[in-house]
Amino acid sequence: MSNLTNLPEWLALKEHQKIIDKLHIRDLFDADPKRFDNYSLKFEDLLFDYSKNRITDDTLTLLLNLAKARHLDTQIEDMFTGKRINITENRAVLHTALRNRSNDPVYVDGVDVMPEVNQALQKMRDFCASVHSGEWKGYTGKAITDIVNIGIGGSDLGPKMVTKALTPYAIEGMSVHYVSNIDRADLIETLDKVSPETTLFLVASKTFSTQETMVNSKAARDWLLEHAKNKTAITKHFVALSTHVKNVTDFGIDPRNMFEFWDWVGGRYSLWSSIGLSIALYLGMDNFEKLLEGAHEADKHFRHEPFEKNIPVIMALLGIWHNNFYYSDSHALLPYDHNLAYFAAYFQQGDMESNGKSVDMKGQPVDYSTGPIIWGQTGTNGQHAFYQLIHQGTKVIPCDFLAPAQSHGDRNESHDILISNFLAQTEALMRGKTEAEVRADLGDDASELLIAAKVFSGDKPTNSFLFKKLSPHFLGALIAFYEHKIFVQGKIWNINSYDQMGVELGKVLAQAIMPELKDSQPVHTHDGSTNGLINYYKKIR
Ligand code: F6P
Repeated sequence: MSNLTNLPEWLALKEHQKIIDKLHIRDLFDADPKRFDNYSLKFEDLLFDYSKNRITDDTLTLLLNLAKARHLDTQIEDMFTGKRINITENRAVLHTALRNRSNDPVYVDGVDVMPEVNQALQKMRDFCASVHSGEWKGYTGKAITDIVNIGIGGSDLGPKMVTKALTPYAIEGMSVHYVSNIDRADLIETLDKVSPETTLFLVASKTFSTQETMVNSKAARDWLLEHAKNKTAITKHFVALSTHVKNVTDFGIDPRNMFEFWDWVGGRYSLWSSIGLSIALYLGMDNFEKLLEGAHEADKHFRHEPFEKNIPVIMALLGIWHNNFYYSDSHALLPYDHNLAYFAAYFQQGDMESNGKSVDMKGQPVDYSTGPIIWGQTGTNGQHAFYQLIHQGTKVIPCDFLAPAQSHGDRNESHDILISNFLAQTEALMRGKTEAEVRADLGDDASELLIAAKVFSGDKPTNSFLFKKLSPHFLGALIAFYEHKIFVQGKIWNINSYDQMGVELGKVLAQAIMPELKDSQPVHTHDGSTNGLINYYKKIR
């Protein structure tokens, strides 16, 4: 048994689960009229309601004891103060420094990183001003109207999620596009929509070596040169967002057009860095800084609130409860806001690349479940697609429901309908519908088959996040809460949430297969299936 599953705090939770298993969340509400007050927290105008979970005061105490046993307070300080907690890559994890609006020094190996962070922000601000004012011109002297961000994973999903989420705040006349897929269809679709004279390409890559991004960027550069017929156009239409000066220069981008960040910023935590330049260009630098401010407020909450009032800590502990004591393999993110269309996709990378690990910090295999499968999409679309399984399937899927009280634009009936759905779903998932209720509804003539089909067990755990409006400030805070939830779970599971070795093997093997696709000769160097697929591809391509 590992250190974790051997802990008295863990064993106590296992025993406690046997008691809780006999209870239904509906009964917990019936027994305690103050349950909502007792199991909800406020942060600014956010109400975080976690009362619809299978928990009691004892559950929370035991979960908090587990967090203390894992020295969570020290671990949080280690992250904020720049300790090299990414031990396999020997790096600090300091996305919090990028949004450190207090400007208090943050040291990595004795050097304060804040002057560099502030300089990078100032460079972004100056650049945005020159693009927005029209001072920055394309090769024919026209102002920029379209931003095309070419990147993948963390160099794509964060900015894409944020710009979509905050569309109502966009600068007039500015459009933003994201190209990530190596499938050429992605780039072509975007190039068809823009003009070379007025488009600015942001090549976003921490390493500036990721195959998809490099290939797409070279194709975009060729497209520009086909139109401009002059190499000097590159300087006016290509900038780089990266940590790697040499690769940027080798690509042909002037280092003065490079927006730098540092190895202590993980790819999936990088939207706060110059990787966020597309956000700043699309929404304006003031809104980008509001995003940073919201995240900074959430950071302070996480760092200083006692654990029992600490939203990301509670989110994480509830996740541990469901994942490790109820064996829920997945967790759904269900925003009731059309503009949060990419929220689940963003945290799919954020969470699964961080906590999809099976060895602990000493390299020992773990004997407990780690990161959940994160999935979801906007409601009410999801309701008409996959909610059936959440309501009546055989799996317990904890869900986060998120909704703004105010829509953008005028108050309208649609918004109340949207919110009534949000509320009704969490109620239905919790309450269910008993056989007696179904019989009362259907009357004496109903068939037993129909009655059985209409019974809902309920008792399905949900968290609700109800906030005033999806503003840049609030979105910053919300993202930071989820980031910290991932951190806390990683600490409880004692895994390194900040490397991603699992995506390397596929990349290496793809490099080996590439030359084998050049001719039509059959290959025999792989396993039977891979050989068969390669050879069939060569035959029908
Ligand atoms: O998928 C692996 C990964 O390394 C991610 O962690 C990262 O966000 C993405 O590739 C892109 O990397 P880069 O920014 O270096 O191009």
